[in-house]
Amino acid sequence: MNITFCCPSLPAGPWLAGLKAALPDAEISVWQPGALPADHAVVWAPPQAFFDEQAQLKGIFNMGAGVDALLELRLPPQATVVRLDDAGMAVQMAEYVCHAVIRHFREFEGYAADMEAGLWSDRKPRRRADFSVGVMGLGVLGERVARALQTFEFPVNGWSRSAKAIDGVNGFVGAAQFNDFLANTQVLVNLLPLTPETQNIMNHATLSQLKPDGYVINVARGAHLVDDDLIALIDSGRLAGATLDVFRVEPLPADHPFWTHPKITMTPHASARTLRDESIAQIAGKIMALERGDGVAGVVDTGRGY
Ligand code: NAP
Ligand code: GLV
Repeated sequence: MNITFCCPSLPAGPWLAGLKAALPDAEISVWQPGALPADHAVVWAPPQAFFDEQAQLKGIFNMGAGVDALLELRLPPQATVVRLDDAGMAVQMAEYVCHAVIRHFREFEGYAADMEAGLWSDRKPRRRADFSVGVMGLGVLGERVARALQTFEFPVNGWSRSAKAIDGVNGFVGAAQFNDFLANTQVLVNLLPLTPETQNIMNHATLSQLKPDGYVINVARGAHLVDDDLIALIDSGRLAGATLDVFRVEPLPADHPFWTHPKITMTPHASARTLRDESIAQIAGKIMALERGDGVAGVVDTGRGY
């Protein structure tokens, strides 16, 4: 079996060594133009030329959960496209979102500023029961986040395409229940895949429906959010602020107004990193399963976009 590795932005050495250790009978090499045809590919942000040459691939393994960029390319139609399915990302996402929600709910940034200014301040505790968190997307990551938030006794809403039964989560389904979901949500957490249906889903019309002083946490993709609409709603006092991990253009351009906005907290696409050991183990296991003809989790429905 031949495996080709095409992740131009990553140092190939450690990944290749890990894949070779996990799949000792396979021939594994870094793709270069003119390379021999392979059975399976391990990819992150490959060029179109890669798929134009490797048109015979049986399996394409994406080294991330999101496949929006991959699906913009012309892929070999017979290939099974498989994304990372948790692989250590769900617990990181749960940590990140709980941290952002708690930091906002408990006003830790305000206390930090007060202390820095030498102020021994007294802030009125907020009512937890009013602080409903709404998770858009209840897949591998969203479900884990929704469960983690319940540990801190926040009321949790969830919105997905198909109905879910998650203990303690107030579920809303599809376009018909989207407005009700928003109207019942104080802190909106985005964990949707980026598809034609979800692009720009956080805009003036939708974000205006959140509870007064709503807050936005975007950890999915920058193109889910209309940046100017978010800024206008914060500046008008309709929204309290936002924590953003993902952006339309990454790295975020130096002149983007998010950099200096006092009510926007940012991280550089770091909420849930691809972990090498976990990812290699998962991908190697799935390559062997596909070779045996077994089913695997995380197969992408390319028509649906996730
Ligand atoms: P997933 O398991 O595929 O879950 C996607 C969820 O979104 C599912 O619940 C799905 O509903 C729902 N959904 C999709 N389209 C919808 C629509 N039109 N309306 C309502 N619900 C819709 O994906 P995941 O593994 O949780 O990952 C989610 C996203 O997180 C990725 O696509 C990626 O963009 C992002 N991500 C970001 C980072 C980071 O570091 N910032 C890291 C990893 C992933 P159904 O269950 O009904 O299908
Ligand atoms: C990261 O953003 C991923 O999709 O895994």
